[in-house]
Amino acid sequence: MRFVVTAGPTREYLDAVRFLSNPSTGKMGFAVAAAAAGRGHETVLIAGPVNLPTPKGVKRIDVVSARDMLKAVHASLTGDSVLVATAAVADFRPKVCSKRKLHKAEIARQIELVPNPDILKTANARFKVGFAAETDAVEASAAAKCRAKGLRLIVANDVTRPGAGFAADTNIASFVSPDGTTEKLPLMTKRRLAAKLVERIESWS
Ligand code: PMT
Repeated sequence: MRFVVTAGPTREYLDAVRFLSNPSTGKMGFAVAAAAAGRGHETVLIAGPVNLPTPKGVKRIDVVSARDMLKAVHASLTGDSVLVATAAVADFRPKVCSKRKLHKAEIARQIELVPNPDILKTANARFKVGFAAETDAVEASAAAKCRAKGLRLIVANDVTRPGAGFAADTNIASFVSPDGTTEKLPLMTKRRLAAKLVERIESWS
């Protein structure tokens, strides 16, 4: 199979040095890419700004913003690819971005935001798998995203739980199907979760 994996955060710049972002480190997505490549699949990894080495056998494309990530995903996808979107994409960006660093007095107290494109929703792939970082109504919110984005599966993680979500080497996840069917998984390393996910995707072909 051919895997395209997104990982890490995006940065949405307000000026030359200030941006909106989130705490994603890319660990989850890099683990998925490593698992896919390790099982012999051609794998493209599209990474936001993170500080991780490229897994063996993976083609990596570095991006900064959601719009960069969208372009890289669309350019990398073929109709027979599997898209696994672990990236924590900023839903909004500042409407205006200054090329130079704004002086403190020049920065508006209210920043106008505009929506970013939804990369996963608009992508055309053989199978689409999403991740959902939730803090409440975890499985129900994930199932709603799964249906709204036309996914085969979504991996829900409650990022309020110790050992789960952003930056940890472990995760506590559930595999959630569009009809809400949920398989709750115990705490495990992101590497183990990634291997389980790749095995699940292989079972669809
Ligand atoms: O990187 P780590 O530190 O290891 O942390 C891992 C993680 C917590 C980031 C990861 O496990 C995770 O949960 N990723 C999804 C983050 C998220 O909040 O997604 P979301 O609920 O905003 O979006 C749902 C899905 O749509 C995701 O697959 C996302 O990549 C995708 N999406 C969202 C918005 C957008 N504009 N484009 C997208 O493609």
